[in-house]
Amino acid sequence: MPQRVYIQEVVTRDGFQSEPRFIPSEHKVALLNALARTGLAKLEVTSFTSPKAIPNLRDAEAVMRAIDRVAGVEYCALVPNVKGCERALACEVDEINLVMSASDSHGLANLRMTAEQSLAQFAAILAVAEGTQVAINASLSTTFGCPFEGALGEARIFSLVERLLGLGIARITLCDTTGMANPRQVETLCRQLLTRWPQATFTLHAHDTRGLGLANALAAFNAGIERFDASLGGLGGCPYAPGATGNVCSEDLVHMFEQMGVATGVDLPALLRVAENLQAIVGHHLPGYVLRAGTADRRYAPG
Ligand code: COA
Ligand code: ZN
Repeated sequence: MPQRVYIQEVVTRDGFQSEPRFIPSEHKVALLNALARTGLAKLEVTSFTSPKAIPNLRDAEAVMRAIDRVAGVEYCALVPNVKGCERALACEVDEINLVMSASDSHGLANLRMTAEQSLAQFAAILAVAEGTQVAINASLSTTFGCPFEGALGEARIFSLVERLLGLGIARITLCDTTGMANPRQVETLCRQLLTRWPQATFTLHAHDTRGLGLANALAAFNAGIERFDASLGGLGGCPYAPGATGNVCSEDLVHMFEQMGVATGVDLPALLRVAENLQAIVGHHLPGYVLRAGTADRRYAPG
């Protein structure tokens, strides 16, 4: 079991993409600059997608160019196609997060691409990125189940992981896009993936749609996963997946690991202060637990 985990914040991408109101760019920049100083390993800043598909992130260039680049923090952006890759490279992102769906029906709904078409698109993107310093990650949506097709079977996931590695993509994110995973399934799949491909770097991207986000993160950790996507306050959800809700909550995840004695590198009180401010930015309540209850070492006067 790992003794250190890496928390990768996705609130300004996964969280903001489905907010009902546009979040002004200057609020996004201030939030990202505050997050960058809490010890998080990576920030998924935005996505370079079609502004018609994801209108809330139509300011990707402006945000990416305005933020501070804090040393030690990796700045990443989601990219669905070659055009997105060109835009991301022009903003000097550290990492491009390619996205595809393990299921064809979700891929067609979200990206207008089957898995096979996404893989072809990835090859074209890699050709564009060749010779640059940018790191490449691939996110595999619906790894643990698709809202249209149900369970996909481990064989399909193994074959897609093999194809990604064959393209030279060594960073792979296993996404539970609509919170369909359960802890036993997560632990089993993660163990098999880590055993078969120890050279790959896997991330778990959990959603808390059915209240299993933390349990699934713990199951992945028990299998040996060290990297976790999470969203401040638990904000998030895929706009092209029915019933999708927020990611596993960053401050709750950090709190769990720190209480277990597993280092996250994150300053939890600082992260909680940023989460408190996020409520004012989005103008609604956030589902995070620790934000409401305080940390487990909070003490009350008797009576
Ligand atoms: N950045 C900006 N604009 C883009 C773009 C990109 N990466 N990719 C496509 N476009 C524009 C095209 O220029 C075109 O614009 P026009 O209508 O003004 O000519 C329009 O989008 C349609 O282009 P097309 O290539 O036909 O794309 P599409 O309609 O098949 O859409 C995607 C495909 C992938 C671009 C689109 O579905 C998308 O951006 N999806 C985002 C999915 C997402 O982020 N989901 C949540 C995260 S998992
Ligand atoms: Zn997600």
